[in-house]
Amino acid sequence: MQIGLFYGSSTCYTEMVAEKIQARLGKDLVTLHNLKDTPVQRMADYPVLLLGISTWDFGEIQEDWLASWDAIDTVDLSGKVVALFGLGDQQGYGEWFLDAMGLLHDKLLAKGCQLVGYWPNEGYEFEASKALVDEGRYFVGLALDETNQYALTEARLDAWLPQVLDEATALL
Ligand SMILES: Cc1cc2nc3c(=O)[nH]c(=O)nc-3n(C[C@H](O)[C@H](O)[C@H](O)COP(=O)(O)O)c2cc1C
Repeated sequence: MQIGLFYGSSTCYTEMVAEKIQARLGKDLVTLHNLKDTPVQRMADYPVLLLGISTWDFGEIQEDWLASWDAIDTVDLSGKVVALFGLGDQQGYGEWFLDAMGLLHDKLLAKGCQLVGYWPNEGYEFEASKALVDEGRYFVGLALDETNQYALTEARLDAWLPQVLDEATALL
């Protein structure tokens, strides 16, 4: 299995999580791509994609994702196995918690991607999020909050990454 991990990160938090994921799974398995320096066409090179996205400015997509947004439409991603992780601030921006992850999810679903790594909505407090499915029971990817729940990130990654690998293996 080859995994391409693509991320956009304005203040390095998503980047640090990307590096933690690569450290856990290994450089042979996971190649990191900062969208600031990488054309989205490179996503076509991998059967499995991990995509990291933060939310900014009241529910907006992080700037490097925004710059790549239309170009994603030109890449054939049908059948790709994709897991998302999102960063946000549930206390400061609780009306828009992780909205960008939800917007990315909807876009990829429409492109025929196979989404894995849904994550239970337990242990979070916020008002609204576009990143929820199943009547609010699940996030469409791993929900991380480095502002308020920094101490939980390691354990969340330890639980989520094996789940993603299992689900991806079953689909490949
Ligand atoms: C000005 C500003 C606006 C933000 N807006 C949102 C938001 O609408 N929703 C959310 O969940 N988080 C929001 N956040 C929190 C960021 O997503 C969070 O700090 C994240 O860790 C940033 O990741 P990055 O440095 O990788 O871009 C905002 C943060 C700032 C400073």
